[in-house]
Amino acid sequence: MRSPVTEYLDAVRESCIADGDDGEVASYIPELAEADPDLFGLAMCTIDGTVYASGDAEHRFTIQSLSKPFAYALALADRGRDEVLRFVGVEPSGDPFNEISLEDNGRPRNPMINIGAITTHALVGPEGATAEESTERVRAGLSAFAGRQLEVDEAVCASERETADRNMALAYLVRARGKLQDEPHDAVDGYTRQCSLLVDVRDLAVMAMTLASGGRNPVTGEQVVSARVCTQVLSVMATCGMYDAAGDWMTSVGIPAKSGVSGGLLGSLPGQVGIGAFSPRLDGFGNSVRGVRACERLSEDMGLHLM
Ligand code: DON
Repeated sequence: MRSPVTEYLDAVRESCIADGDDGEVASYIPELAEADPDLFGLAMCTIDGTVYASGDAEHRFTIQSLSKPFAYALALADRGRDEVLRFVGVEPSGDPFNEISLEDNGRPRNPMINIGAITTHALVGPEGATAEESTERVRAGLSAFAGRQLEVDEAVCASERETADRNMALAYLVRARGKLQDEPHDAVDGYTRQCSLLVDVRDLAVMAMTLASGGRNPVTGEQVVSARVCTQVLSVMATCGMYDAAGDWMTSVGIPAKSGVSGGLLGSLPGQVGIGAFSPRLDGFGNSVRGVRACERLSEDMGLHLM
C-alpha cells in the first residue's frame, strides 16, 4: 500500500507536469544531451531516516554540481575551516557557474561554482594527499553521505573530460594565483570523476537529510562529518547553491539547496527534511524547471520556508 506521503508526492509531481514542459536538457557535456527529458523523480527523507519516493525514483543520473556541498564538507572536515577559507571564499558570485569568479586575492568566490569546486576537490584528504587519494576520499565520503557505495558513470566522465577545456582554463588560472594545491590537470580529472558519480533521488534525499541532521546519516547512523561542518555547508548552500537564482530561490522556497546540470536538485532543511528531485529540463540559470517547481510546492504546502 502506498503511504499518504507518497501519494502526496505523486500529486506534487503531477501538478508540476501539468504546468508544462519548458526548459532545455544540458548539452555542453555531449553525453548529458542523451537524457530522457521526461524523467521526473521526487523523494523526501525525514529525520528518522524514512524515505518516501515518487516517479522515476530508481533512475540513476550523474550527480554533477550536487556533489559540491559534500566535497566542501569533506574538505572542511579534513583541513579545518580556517585552512579551507585560505583557498576558497563564501560570497555569492552573481555570475554563471562556469565563470572566472575570483576575489582580488585570487580565491574563488565560493565552493559551489566550478572554479571553487575544483579548488575544493584538491583540499579533500589529509595535507599532502595525492590527487588520486583526494578523488577516492571524495567517492568514499559521498558514499557515506548516501549510505551506499557510489560508482562513476565512465561514459559521462569521458564525455565531460573531452569537453573540459573551460574547467581546465579555470584550474590553470586559480593555480597561477596560488590557490590550487594539485596540478590543474589532476584536479580537473578528479573533479570530473566527482561530478560523474551516479545517484538517484533517494540518495539525494538521504544525503540532504544527513547535512540537515548535523552530519549523521539518518539511515546508517554513521556520523559522516561534524555538526559544525554542516552549519558551514548549509550556510554556503543558502547563499550560493542556486547560482544567479539564489535570491529568488531563498525568497520563494526558503530552503538551503543545490542544483546540477544533469537535472538534479536537493534541498536540506535543518532538523526537518531532505529533498531530492530529478528532471533534466533546465531553466536559464541551469536549475531543473520541474525540480524548482516541486520544491516551491513542498515548501508552500508544508510550511518549510526557513523564515
Ligand atoms: O563542471 C561542470 O560544468 C559540470 N561537471 C557540473 C556543472 C553543474 O552541474 C552546474 N550546475 N548547475
